[in-house]
Amino acid sequence: MCGIIGVLGKQDVVPSLVDGLKRLEYRGYDSAGIATLTSDGIDRRRAEGKLVNLEAVLDGNNLSGLAGIGHTRWATHGVPNETNAHPHMTTQIALVHNGIIENYRELAEELVAKGYAFESETDTEIAAQLISSYLDDGASPKDAMAQSLQRLQGAFSIAVIFKKHDDLMIGARRGAPLAVGWGKGEMFLGSDALALAPLTSSISYLEEDDWVVLTRDGAVFYDKNNQEVTREVKQTQLSGAMIGKGNHRHFMMKEIVEQPAVIGETLSSFFNPRSRTITLPDLPFDWKDLPKITIVACGTSFYAAMIAKYWFEKVADLSVEVDIASEFRYRNMPLREGGLAMFISQSGETADTLAALKYAKENGQHIGSIINVEESSMGRESDFVFHTQAGPEIGVASTKAFTCQLVTLACIAIDAGVQRGVIDHEEEARLCAAISEVPARAAEILESHVNIKNLAEKIFEANDILYIGRGTGYPVALEGALKLKELSYIHAEGYAAGELKHGPIALIDDTVPVIVVAPSDPYFEKTASNMQEVMARKARVIFLSDAAGIEQLGEHAVGSIELPSVDPFVAPILYALPVQLLAYYVAVLKGTDVDQPRNLAKSVTVE
Ligand code: AGP
Repeated sequence: MCGIIGVLGKQDVVPSLVDGLKRLEYRGYDSAGIATLTSDGIDRRRAEGKLVNLEAVLDGNNLSGLAGIGHTRWATHGVPNETNAHPHMTTQIALVHNGIIENYRELAEELVAKGYAFESETDTEIAAQLISSYLDDGASPKDAMAQSLQRLQGAFSIAVIFKKHDDLMIGARRGAPLAVGWGKGEMFLGSDALALAPLTSSISYLEEDDWVVLTRDGAVFYDKNNQEVTREVKQTQLSGAMIGKGNHRHFMMKEIVEQPAVIGETLSSFFNPRSRTITLPDLPFDWKDLPKITIVACGTSFYAAMIAKYWFEKVADLSVEVDIASEFRYRNMPLREGGLAMFISQSGETADTLAALKYAKENGQHIGSIINVEESSMGRESDFVFHTQAGPEIGVASTKAFTCQLVTLACIAIDAGVQRGVIDHEEEARLCAAISEVPARAAEILESHVNIKNLAEKIFEANDILYIGRGTGYPVALEGALKLKELSYIHAEGYAAGELKHGPIALIDDTVPVIVVAPSDPYFEKTASNMQEVMARKARVIFLSDAAGIEQLGEHAVGSIELPSVDPFVAPILYALPVQLLAYYVAVLKGTDVDQPRNLAKSVTVE
């Protein structure tokens, strides 16, 4: 996902632009650039690859100015190189863009016919030339922007500076978030509050189809009909410190070790320790009236949905349809009026999940989202929101957001069970007691990471690795495989342990490590026999279980990770931690970019 920063400043803006881009790195990118208004007009510096390359260019060829824009680009149209890097410039403006201009071909033909030419392969440059063409026709910057926005189709956010206007910056939002930062005698634009955190805590979010005209005195917001509108100024709680790595080598490790604390934070918003009951915010439906629920997400968030399916079925006697958003949004699944659809997302901006949410909304569903960024698009589009309170998650690989999603979903499932009369207060109290132990048990697990680091050394040279589990251990196996794939680039697959004999066991030999997720739960004996099956074929097994399970089977494994004995209901939350750590240490051994793995973005805001 690209990142945008804009500063209309009182002093040289280049340091703030570069610093803002550093705060946007977590979104994933493959080139970067900045442009400023100078005494001669507009100047820019761009570089392929990481920000260090852009800083090297700036060291060799300084740039300064009191107004400027910056961008981290995650390539969609055009390869990641300097020519395609933003900002894109014309004779009149510089522009940065996040998202996709869908009608770029049609616009390009029109502009070429008018004598305009392009130097890059990007859709962004076409948007820049379109705005410029209206300026060339004599329009004011504001009118040129308004006319261009009528023509542009797609999902995007953009920021523009104008050569002849040193106290002007214009931004627009259609499908990709953009925030205005309010300073004293200076104003800012950013893709999110994280980018603006060191500059200001006063933030206004553009709403869908909004655009905004900034001067150093303030901001004027317009809606899609170019009517002036007011947007709330919120005080963000983010601080620069919250988004540092602390004394950790990677954001991912910082976020892994934050889990006991943030899980506790999330729990405290739903769980009452005195009455040992769950209290949810008021919901616009009665759980008793729901025949089923639909839960939709992508990636790791989808595995949270899969785990929740088991919980809702067992504790609330509710049937649950789960699907990945990229499939759900095109399935035309029949949805009965008045049903409940929930969407899980760390960023709240994932394009497929957002599109699935809109499909469900058009089909009369109550819309709930479980998100980590309250002011995100999903938050705004939902009837009700459960904020996971994991705090900013910078590492591209989702860790604390995932376990906070699970704790939230577990609390919702318990409340649904109580409201539907499926569980009584005694059972509610028992489940709540199990959940209330999770932060402490998680802290215990994180103390065993040296063992996990040693086990990583046993598998990091493998080409293929299998993860297996049953029940809620199955989505944990899928999540473990995803973590390993996205961090270390080793091929890994998660399987339901019972599926091995239906094909995957053909993969097994002494070159294929198998990670077995097997807490002492009703499935243990079955999973144990699956473990015997793969060991009989020389698989090198790493066994995740508790003391009882390891006593029974651990001796045959090349290594075991002992987890605390916990209620099976909360096992998937805790078993997520060792698979996160295992993937982390394998990636470190492989020397990959742990926080920003290749080709990945923190939030995929394009289809
Ligand atoms: C998780 O480690 C991945 N980075 C990815 O699968 C992620 O979970 C997925 O893109 C969904 O993102 P979201 O939670 O922000 O919607």
